[in-house]
Amino acid sequence: VTPRKMSFGINGKLNGLESKTPFLIGVSMGTASGKSTVCKRIMEKLGQVDMDHMQRQVVCISQDSFYRDLSPAEKLKAEKGQYNFDHPDAFDNDLILQTLQDILAGVKCEIPAYDYRTNSLYLLCYINHVLMDFRMKDQITTIYPADVVLFEGILVFYFPKIRDLFHMKLFVDTDSDTRLARRVPRDIKERGRDLDYVLNQYMNFVKPAFEEFCLPTKKFADVIIPRGADNTVAIDLIVHHIWDILRLKKAENSSRQHPYIYQHRRT
Ligand code: ADP
Ligand code: C5P
Ligand code: MG
Repeated sequence: VTPRKMSFGINGKLNGLESKTPFLIGVSMGTASGKSTVCKRIMEKLGQVDMDHMQRQVVCISQDSFYRDLSPAEKLKAEKGQYNFDHPDAFDNDLILQTLQDILAGVKCEIPAYDYRTNSLYLLCYINHVLMDFRMKDQITTIYPADVVLFEGILVFYFPKIRDLFHMKLFVDTDSDTRLARRVPRDIKERGRDLDYVLNQYMNFVKPAFEEFCLPTKKFADVIIPRGADNTVAIDLIVHHIWDILRLKKAENSSRQHPYIYQHRRT
């Protein structure tokens, strides 16, 4: 891989080259269907996981990074499992729209990871301009222009304005029993919940909201991946498609940097 040299203006736009539009892929379906795992497999197969953020050509963002800040009263509700994290209004949808539009306009963006244990974003902590919270290093995703961007979440196809921004829409099809059987141990092990919390939240909010808001968006998908991460054939097909896009973008970039050579080759 040729190291990418980039500098940005104060508006976050790439200096030098023309602005470039990443290929934006949406990945959706209900909780624990395997969205995050499918995106991880795609990133691994493309050799992007261990790469420095600056060098990454493909990045993955989770819709969960856009959960709204909770008021103290809402925080209390969330701690008791009485807050609906599965309703479209639980997300800052204006910020999602703005961020995706920025990404498409070639503006560099920084997106923090979400902490399910505290129901909040990991916070930046600067003291005398020095980043003190070292967790942030791994938990900020920087989106640089000219790449492929995966955006995954339960409701990424819900609002038409957001849905219409995707160049490709994937749906991970996993049945509800399997999803519940995966959500319970995951939320207990990784998200600091107990069994009662997970089951009550599932019955009161997760299941009804899935049926009302998420499942109806399946009809907008371009590609449906049955069995999620187990479906290596489907994942390989998507990975090959992304390779083709990256090759095309590389050719476009070198033609911008060396227009004479490109024109010469074409004639
Ligand atoms: P989502 O992001 O859609 O909520 P995850 O990717 O987090 O789903 O998967 C939910 C849980 O199920 C995780 O613990 C993950 O490791 C596990 N999981 C995902 N896909 C599979 C699979 N194909 N087989 C077994 N476990 C899986
Ligand atoms: O990864 P996954 O798609 O499961 O993430 C979305 C799920 O996370 C939602 O179903 C929501 O119930 C859950 N969630 C939660 N607590 C939060 C934020 C989201 O249980 N603080
Ligand atoms: Mg996930």
